[in-house]
Amino acid sequence: MVEFRRNNRSKQDRFNRGNSRPNRNNDHRENGGRRELGRQQGGECLTLRIEKMVQGGEGMARLEDGRVCFVAGALPGELCKVRLTFQKKDFTKGRVVEVLEASLDRVKPLCPLYGKCGGCSLQHLASEKQAEYLEKVERENFRRLAHAELPEDFVIHTGNAWGYRNRARVVFRGGSNRGAVSENRNAVSATFEGSTNRACFGFRGEESNNIVPFEKCPVLTDGLNEFLRGPAATLLAGDSKRNSDDSRRFSRDIDVNIFDNGAGEISFYYPGMHKSEFDAHAVSHVEIAGRKIEADASVFFQSNLGLLPELVESVRKAVDEGLASGRSSDAWLIDLFSGVGFFACILQDKFKKITTVEREEGCLRHAKVNLSVPAAFPEDSATSRDCVASRTPEIENVSAPAEDWLVENVVDVPATLIVDPPRTGLPKEALTAIVKSSVNRLIYVSCDPVTLARDFAKFSEAGFTLSHAEGFAFYPQTPHLEMMFVLDR
Ligand SMILES: C[S@@+](CC[C@H](N)C(=O)[O-])C[C@H]1O[C@@H](n2cnc3c(N)ncnc32)[C@H](O)[C@@H]1O
Repeated sequence: MVEFRRNNRSKQDRFNRGNSRPNRNNDHRENGGRRELGRQQGGECLTLRIEKMVQGGEGMARLEDGRVCFVAGALPGELCKVRLTFQKKDFTKGRVVEVLEASLDRVKPLCPLYGKCGGCSLQHLASEKQAEYLEKVERENFRRLAHAELPEDFVIHTGNAWGYRNRARVVFRGGSNRGAVSENRNAVSATFEGSTNRACFGFRGEESNNIVPFEKCPVLTDGLNEFLRGPAATLLAGDSKRNSDDSRRFSRDIDVNIFDNGAGEISFYYPGMHKSEFDAHAVSHVEIAGRKIEADASVFFQSNLGLLPELVESVRKAVDEGLASGRSSDAWLIDLFSGVGFFACILQDKFKKITTVEREEGCLRHAKVNLSVPAAFPEDSATSRDCVASRTPEIENVSAPAEDWLVENVVDVPATLIVDPPRTGLPKEALTAIVKSSVNRLIYVSCDPVTLARDFAKFSEAGFTLSHAEGFAFYPQTPHLEMMFVLDR
């Protein structure tokens, strides 16, 4: 992805968020950096009783020597034959070879690519039980990492278990007589498993650099599956008469972002796309909470449109309560890690001034559009020009790292602050600046409960308390969870 080199880190973050595939670096991150004693490819097989599920969705068991073993594909209470795949001094990892005593909650994974494509690693757990298990995991995670309890009334909102995902990145291989080995984005050889000369789409695999082709992905929306089965290959392969660059364009596999706007329109993006093609095929509009929001398939957008209105509602409620209690003021809304200005856009009718801060320049153009349209008023209200003008806030869309903006701009009023960082959580400088600011109510939206708990511990030391917490099952069949915290001081 040549044009991404300059902004490599942020591009990575963009896709980390909402990716249904487990981020292996995040799993058991508290063990990160310790000395690795060795990997076992065809490692030893042990019979283990699974104690509980841990962050990342694995079952946890104990070996006779006292080390814990994180077992992929196992559920609490089960007795499993486990092959060790990885060993360190004080923990190991393994994979279920055979379930000797199965949990009542175990089901047969629906997708034939379970365990192969790198996504949806929780398919062996009944869909209707997933939120219950994740709640237990998150309560324990929070206790362990933040030394605090999630509120009693913490709930996880759930939606469709399948066909929910409106955004994904796939790998496209054009139908040609190219060999099985090709170049991937990191210039490392990648093989399409069972490669044919037919155009096909795949996911980057779990255990290797191989690309796993698929015909249909059951967590993608019907619209995305139909697009991939239907017009996608033709659109991507293009018409060689129309575009003399086509042969160059598809001399390698390409990563393609696909996006379903929930209203029957599919957009897509791949690195190197011509501007005219970008304008025609990458840009889209999504209607949420009575707002029309512009985005494009190259930038971050939420990936579960079915459940998104519930998150929007919860954020709105937290904002309204902050304003009503006087804890925060309507003078200023600051939306940090704002993407295309999503939260600011749905809240803009409540504030006199709005600042959005986002590192990716590609988001800026959309944020400007999304925040330039006055909020809609009910038909029967007095929508005179004066009224609209009085409710049209002063808008500032900033393209910069949030931590730099916070350091350079003193927030000395009790502004309403929303942060929605990538999986890595808040940069240290950002957290310190928020603590030093006059913000008394912070709404923290997170796609990684581990970094959320870590950041909460620091806010708590600085005098913030957790007033409210909610979970959103944005990524069913995976161990990932979206969360919203309301922190007050
Ligand atoms: C999880 S997304 C949230 C976007 C937006 N709030 C939404 O709901 O659509 C995180 C966003 O933060 C941006 N980002 C990552 N690191 C950043 C940083 N240090 N400063 C500002 N933006 C950053 C990413 O580009 C991405 O758009």
